[in-house]
Amino acid sequence: MANIHTPIPNLKLNDGNSMPMIGYGTGTAWYKSGDESKVDEACIAATKMSIDMGYYHQDGAEVYKTEAELGTAIKQSGISREKLFLTTKVISNIADIPSALKTSLKKLQVDHVDMYLIHSPFFSEKKDDHQEKWRQMEELKSQGLAKSIGVSNYLPEQLDWILETCKVQPAVNQIEFHPYLQHEGLIEYHKKKGIATCAYGPLTPVTKGAGGPADDVLNGLAKKYAVSPGEILLRWCIDQDIVPITTSSKEQRLSDYLRAMTFKLNPAEIKQINEAGKKKHLRGFWTHKFDDNDKR
Ligand SMILES: NC(=O)c1ccc[n+]([C@@H]2O[C@H](COP(=O)([O-])OP(=O)(O)OC[C@H]3O[C@@H](n4cnc5c(N)ncnc54)[C@H](OP(=O)(O)O)[C@@H]3O)[C@@H](O)[C@H]2O)c1
Repeated sequence: MANIHTPIPNLKLNDGNSMPMIGYGTGTAWYKSGDESKVDEACIAATKMSIDMGYYHQDGAEVYKTEAELGTAIKQSGISREKLFLTTKVISNIADIPSALKTSLKKLQVDHVDMYLIHSPFFSEKKDDHQEKWRQMEELKSQGLAKSIGVSNYLPEQLDWILETCKVQPAVNQIEFHPYLQHEGLIEYHKKKGIATCAYGPLTPVTKGAGGPADDVLNGLAKKYAVSPGEILLRWCIDQDIVPITTSSKEQRLSDYLRAMTFKLNPAEIKQINEAGKKKHLRGFWTHKFDDNDKR
């Protein structure tokens, strides 16, 4: 297994805080569709294992219904609060953001989160609503309940609404991002405005998108660096200053992912992956909100 002490780099955010450049997610595979009060012991065990292995950046959301599991795993791991970088998100209770965060903090058994995100822009198509919700997010930051604030699944036009009236800019936009969904102009927009990108679904080309046009280049680079194609995908994000948010239930895989910290892709290799990836379009999440050919 990889050396668990492999250092994970940090990304400096526009508000001065820093974020570890790989996150462990408690959504997707861990998402609870049934009764939230039914404890998922496997989720607790895997999340604790990830913290023990050095995944201090943990990604939760009220809608995953696993915040209690995440809180228990944090407690059981004994990790100090200063080391942990804890994210959660609001959407189901967006009508009352302060109370939603209070509920999340209770489940997570902490007194603040490091990152609080509006989970998606789809709660309203009105600019005023987004500006008002962002004011509430800013208030939570000023109270110290969220050290950093950001959004998820926003497009440039929706970010523009927030930037028009904000006092504090969103620190991140968490989006689906992988070679088969590079978005047109969004990453460039983030860079121009100083907004960091977090990438969920980073392994899509080796999971849902396996057998696609990026396979050859990913396999070739995996051979060159003696890692797996998945680790090439994680590194492809990191080398573009993008923070991958992944997950696994398997110790071996979590250990292997850390090998992505041990090498660097050169610009030509990043370009090769970009070019191969552009030959296929695949969106795995929020598909009901976008047309099949919408690459934004
Ligand atoms: N903001 C949003 O709207 C949003 C949406 C989706 C996700 N997220 C966040 O992002 C996190 C990660 O999302 P994701 O699960 O889509 O990330 P991902 O990194 O693309 O995929 C991770 C999954 O792939 C499986 N996997 C890894 N390598 C594999 C391989 N070689 N072959 C087959 N399966 C493999 C893992 O299963 P094993 O357990 O078998 O290793 C794990 O379930 C979520 O947990 C959540 O926190 C956010």
